[in-house]
Order: sequence, then C-alpha cells, then structure tokens
Amino acid sequence: MKAKMDSRRSYTKITTHVLQEMKLKGEKIAMLTAYDFSMAGILDAVGIDIILVGDSASNVMAGHTTTLPITLDEMIYHGSSVMRAVKRALVVVDLPFGTYQGNSIEALHSAIRIMKESGANAIKIEGGEEVIGSVKRILSAGIPVMGHLGLMPQSIHKFGTYVVRATEKDEADKLIKDARLLESAGCFAIVLEKIPAKLAAKVTKEIKIPTIGIGAGSGVDGQVLVLHDMLGITTEFSPRFLRRYHNLNEEIQGSVTAYIDDVKSQDFPNEREQY
Ligand code: KIV
Repeated sequence: MKAKMDSRRSYTKITTHVLQEMKLKGEKIAMLTAYDFSMAGILDAVGIDIILVGDSASNVMAGHTTTLPITLDEMIYHGSSVMRAVKRALVVVDLPFGTYQGNSIEALHSAIRIMKESGANAIKIEGGEEVIGSVKRILSAGIPVMGHLGLMPQSIHKFGTYVVRATEKDEADKLIKDARLLESAGCFAIVLEKIPAKLAAKVTKEIKIPTIGIGAGSGVDGQVLVLHDMLGITTEFSPRFLRRYHNLNEEIQGSVTAYIDDVKSQDFPNEREQY
C-alpha cells in the first residue's frame, strides 16, 4: 500500500498538477529549502517533491537577522544555481520583501524576472487579501503562485515576534478567508507557517489545493523545513516544530579540526596525495 503512494516511484517530474493529484490520493508532499547547486542536486537525487529557494537564504546564506534585506537579484542568483542541478523536483522561488507589495505591475515584473532569469517553475508570495491583486496579475501571466499564510517572516516588524500565529479567533477567521481567496484566485498550493495544528487541518479540509505546513502539525498535505535547520548546520534556532536529522555543524567542525591538525603536523599531504 505504502509503495503505491510514493511519488518517488510514481512521477519522473513533479508539476503543480502532480501536487494536486497527490493531495487527492492522500500522499504527503515533501518540501525542503535549497539555495545552491550542490545541495539542490542531492535533494533532487533522493526524490524531494518541491525545492523552495526561500528568502530564508537571507538568514542562513547571508547571515542577516531577518529575511527583509535579500534582493531580487540575489534570489535570482540562488534560483538559477538550484535550477542548474534539478531534474525532477518542482522549484519555487520566493519573491523577496519589497518586490510585490507596492503594486501589482511591480509584482508581475518581479515574478517575470524570476521566471526568465532563474528558470524556476513557480514563485511564492507572503500574504492574503493585502496582496491578492499582485497574486491575480502574476497568475494571469501564466506564472504558478504558491501562497504563504500564518507566520510571515517578511512582516516580522509588524508582528514583533516569531510566536505562533492565529491563536485568536479573529486572526484564525482571517487566515481561513485568505486561504479561500488564494485558492479561488488560482494559487496551486499554500504554505501554512507556525499556526495551531487544528486550524491548519481545518484549512486543509476546506480548500482543494495542497497545504504545506511548517510548525502547522500533521493535518496538512505536506511539510517543509529549512535545510540548514534540519541538517543541524544552524544551531541557535530550535523551535519545537524543528526535527533535526543530523548534527552537521559538529560533523563539519570535527572534519575541519582534523584537517587543520593534519596540515600543522605535516601529515597532509602524504606520499600518495602528491604528484
Ligand atoms: O523562506 C523560507 O524558507 C520559507 C519557509 C520557511 C517556508 O518561506
């Protein structure tokens, strides 16, 4: 039964239609972030469904404290690096802060630049009603759009904190309304970040497009994590929803320490490692 429900065997290329089919069949969607050629190639080779070139690159690649500083050019650089490695996964690139909120024409130009210059398959936008004009205009140009509701890191200065969102009725009601709005506009999926599991499950039941959760419990259609967090490259960020699959930070430190020791002691290179 499980073998039949595994996209790694069923699909040679993931498209937005495949994701819709997976939701209908009840097969969970696996999504991770990647920002460079080498990592994207590894993720693609083992069958990840979606690679998100997230604006979290601002934090984990560039060392900023928020996602706000990353530019459209930088997102295109990361997106095109990922695209050169990927054969099977669907690649989604985040529209960075300040490139779509102003007006829908500017949003369309930003989305077109990402699609043309990186070769990505889709873009992601944070927000509901506030950005629906931009979402519709981008969709009308034939560009697939993934929505993003709940905790929206680009609005951190408005929220003031990264705590769980939509715990109060008003915000939960707005989130449900926004999800329906994004669905009826034509988005192909919605990321739900850091909201109560019950609310995420309710949204998932009420809309026909897939929901991808991060800190949104198990009642969603798929899961996403930031690659550097789940591999344990980053160490300071430890929210409850994060499952660490490795402690790569420690592994890398161990390898680099061994290399430094070998160089200092003149053990490296040895006879066989030279010409
Ligand atoms: O930028 C990002 O990595 C994201 C995920 C957290 C969903 O938007």
